[in-house]
Parts: sequence; structure tokens; C-alpha cells
Amino acid sequence: MSKHQGSLWLCISVLLCCLTLHAQGAALFAEADHSLGASLMVQNKCSACHISRVGGDGSAIYRPQGRIRTPAALTAMVERCSTELNLSLFPDEVNAIAAVLNRDHYKFK
Ligand code: HEC
Repeated sequence: MSKHQGSLWLCISVLLCCLTLHAQGAALFAEADHSLGASLMVQNKCSACHISRVGGDGSAIYRPQGRIRTPAALTAMVERCSTELNLSLFPDEVNAIAAVLNRDHYKFK
């Protein structure tokens, strides 16, 4: 195989990999427990801190067109904020919260 062909294959496999990740996006939240996610957010007063930053009901902090553009990034941000609260959430709890935010704000497909 020539060097050129090699990089073509690399390119194709990266592309396929991205497509799979993309397809997993919505699937990431498919099994999530929305009512668990919603009550975790209330219990842990996620909005209290967000309100202190952006006012209103705090939901203006969620910017679907902003930095967070993938379900994985959303999940990572929920992780980061829950670490801020010193919560030790289980992965499925983080996922449940991210799923609720996705349903109400980010709407990733
Ligand atoms: C100690 C304050 C604080 C707490 C508590 C907090 N957050 Fe946040 N959160 C922030 C700040 C500040 C940002 C904006 C960060 C930035 O723009 O870099 C943010 C941003 C976010 C974002 C990304 C918004 C966007 O679209 O860019 C999500 C999602 C989020 N928080 C979820 C949560 C959840 C869920 C909880 C409760 C488990 C929570 N946060 C608790 C301070 C907090």
C-alpha cells in the first residue's frame, strides 16, 4: 500500500468513527431516567448557582448554540458542575441529568 493510500484509509476510518459517535449521541440518552434527572437537579439546586450568574430561572446558562455541541460534551459539563457541588453521582445519574437538559434545552438528535 502506498503512503498516500494509507492516509486515505486513516481518513475513512476517522470518518466512520465520527459517524458512529454521532449516531450514539441520542442513544446515549435513550435509556435515561428523566424523572430521576429532574429530581436530582432540584435536590442539588443546580439552578441556584446558575441564577447567581445569569439571573432569571438560571436556564439562560444553557446555551444550545454555544460551546456545548455534542451529547458527550453535555454529559462532561454535568460532571464538571456536579463535581463543583461535591456530589458523587453515579454515571447513570449524570446521564439522567444530561438527558433532561437535552430534552428541555439542547435537543441533540
Ligand atoms: C458552583 C456553581 C455551580 C453549580 C452548583 C452548578 N453549576 Fe452548572 N455552571 C456553572 C457555571 C459558572 C457555568 C458556566 C461555565 C462556563 O461557561 O465556563 C455552568 C454551566 C453549566 C452547563 C453548561 C451550559 C452551557 O451550555 O454552556 C451545564 C449543562 C450545567 N452547568 C449543568 C449543571 C448541573 C446539572 C448542575 C447541578 C448538578 C450544575 N450545573 C450546578 C456553575 C455551577
